[in-house]
Amino acid sequence: MQIGHKDNMEKAHIITCTAPVNIAVVKYWGKRDEDLILPINSSLSVTLHQDQLKTTTTVTTSKSFQEDRLWLNGKEEDISHPRLQSCLREIRRLARKRRNDADPDLDSTCLSHKVHICSVNNFPTAAGLASSAAGFACLVYTLAQAFGVEGDLSGVARQGSGSACRSMYGGFVKWIMGHQSDGKDSVAQQVEPETHWPELRILVLVASAERKPVGSTSGMQTSVQTSCLLKHRAESVVPGRMVEMIEAVRRKDFTAFAELTMKDSNQFHATCLDTYPPIFYLNSVSHQVINLVHRYNRHYGETRVAYTFDAGPNAVIFTLQQHVLDFSQAVRHFFPPETNGQFIKGLPVPQADISVELKQAIGLEPMPKGISYIISTKAGPGPCVVKDPTQHLLGPDGLPKRSEKHQDNRVEHKNVC
Ligand code: DP6
Repeated sequence: MQIGHKDNMEKAHIITCTAPVNIAVVKYWGKRDEDLILPINSSLSVTLHQDQLKTTTTVTTSKSFQEDRLWLNGKEEDISHPRLQSCLREIRRLARKRRNDADPDLDSTCLSHKVHICSVNNFPTAAGLASSAAGFACLVYTLAQAFGVEGDLSGVARQGSGSACRSMYGGFVKWIMGHQSDGKDSVAQQVEPETHWPELRILVLVASAERKPVGSTSGMQTSVQTSCLLKHRAESVVPGRMVEMIEAVRRKDFTAFAELTMKDSNQFHATCLDTYPPIFYLNSVSHQVINLVHRYNRHYGETRVAYTFDAGPNAVIFTLQQHVLDFSQAVRHFFPPETNGQFIKGLPVPQADISVELKQAIGLEPMPKGISYIISTKAGPGPCVVKDPTQHLLGPDGLPKRSEKHQDNRVEHKNVC
């Protein structure tokens, strides 16, 4: 593709990639190094499928660009943010290193070029859906493609946002906390691929699309400074829980996986309450979802459903395919939605009525409109390159295409990669 009409010889490199959201089942909360983003404990997550939730990023490099520029969801943002700069600096450093070490003949002309970056999410930003994880994973993956950098890049994504390192892989992913002060051993690794547990289903119950009150970065900073429960959790609980969780995933033992997931979410929110002043991420809808899940499981005499909550009120539910319909009926009954609009988006779930026995056994007071909608999804792959050139978010002039403005709130895009 040609950019710069003055210089016909000058080629611009353009590349578009997508990256997934991940949801932690053993939570990361607390840093031992704020700049390098090194955690006080290891964590484990499930990568969600990009058919439902993803970030798309286009990177263009050109000799004619005057400066690095960034557009997020249709709006130009300040690229001088230290975390963005860390990622850009690291990728350029690795590209230079690759040229010097391995391949001096490598076409490295674009190394000195400025970049234009354009990124969109197909889900509401800052709704507790880990948009920064998908965003930084996508940024790092796309920059690496643009600059010809290969290998594990989770350590670079980590420097954008801690949880982003886990979005560099599909399926079930652990982030090993590491012990070195330079952070070289604090990386993500795949535990099992997305094909490992095909029956596993994930329902995101969107309770609120509002921005979260306290961001994770400042929240965890206060927790590290004030919560002795967090210290106990990191030192004495998480190491054993990681081993048990990995075992449960490997064995596809839903009961063990579900119970560990719920206990870990509860302990994370307990550390938020133990923070001084306390941090409240859960609201009355979240509490009602917790009650619903426990009463549902009690009614069936087995653990069929689990919840987990990040730094926001939205519940993420794990269950098995055979229980999705029954559990979503319960959600629809106890959180009656507005009649217009689709309540369940993503992977199709047929509509049916809740059984009288289940309704009575749960016996909660319905909370109308407590949940705006459900995104039904499953485990999915890591970042990938988009082959179709019509999907580039930047035009031949290196500026966002008009259609890339205001793309928030879309959740039903088909993955094109
Ligand atoms: C509650 O990765 O958003 O979602 O590293 O400061 O960018 P920073 O924080 P972030 O924290 C995520 C915290 C969490 C739990 C998790 O994803 O493990």
